Amino acid sequence: MTGAANGLGRAIATRLAAEGARLALFDIDRDGLAQVAEDLARAGTPAFALTVDVTGEAQVLDAFARLEAEFGALDSLVNNVGGSRNAKIWEMSLADWDFTVNLNLRSAFLCTRAALPAMMQRQAGSIVCMSSGSREGTPWTASHSGGAAYAAAKAGIHGFIRDVALEVAPFGIRINAVAPGPIETDRTREVFAHMNATLEHSPNRMVPMRRLGQPHEIADAVLFLASEEASYVTGVTLDVAGGR
Ligand SMILES: NC(=O)c1ccc[n+]([C@@H]2O[C@H](COP(=O)([O-])OP(=O)(O)OC[C@H]3O[C@@H](n4cnc5c(N)ncnc54)[C@H](O)[C@@H]3O)[C@@H](O)[C@H]2O)c1
Repeated sequence: MTGAANGLGRAIATRLAAEGARLALFDIDRDGLAQVAEDLARAGTPAFALTVDVTGEAQVLDAFARLEAEFGALDSLVNNVGGSRNAKIWEMSLADWDFTVNLNLRSAFLCTRAALPAMMQRQAGSIVCMSSGSREGTPWTASHSGGAAYAAAKAGIHGFIRDVALEVAPFGIRINAVAPGPIETDRTREVFAHMNATLEHSPNRMVPMRRLGQPHEIADAVLFLASEEASYVTGVTLDVAGGR
């Protein structure tokens, strides 16, 4: 899985490991990755951890080659990496637009393309990508800082999984996405607290369940879609967003 060193990725890795999965963790954050791997090993589930920038084609190809040499074909791939450089659209630089689209969309494309040949050979596999409630626009982000590049990239993930699901179904492979609402992580805690204290269209006012989500609620959804429990589910973006 990608982006395993922090936030939701870390929660997903912990949840999958608790279910007995043998994990390969990719992240650009070497220290964070080492910490997660150490925590998992201490819990009795050692993982294969690799520092890699998943927006780089050569790095991704090399990482999957090393991974397959170690593991053979993957059962599941979780394309979790994502994030945003926000700005109001009339002030957004091309560099920030490209960074955001590449981080969310190019990474999912590169990792999916790299994982598929071995899955197709085995005629089995499941892929889970990370979209967002933001794919339909987010009131608090729009009024706070502007998130059009992120919204476009996360809507792109929905289009991506819809099409790839059709392409890979004949090979016994499923691909879905999870679309989180505002989830409280170490990175987002202060930002969301500030928004809830200052914005009219804040997460706690706009989300029907009137609270932030917790990382384990996303990890549970990823586990479901990655597992055989979802054996007849493909091409779906599952909102885990408190009703929004
Ligand atoms: N937290 C939320 O409220 C929320 C809401 C909706 C969607 N999401 C999505 O969920 C996913 C995880 O979000 P998060 O909040 O845990 O983010 P995060 O920023 O806390 O963690 C992202 C991880 O990806 C890693 N990473 C960043 N760039 C990378 C690269 N080029 N190559 C490899 N690793 C890289 C980071 O080091 C980090 O460990 C993202 O796709 C995000 O867009 C999050």
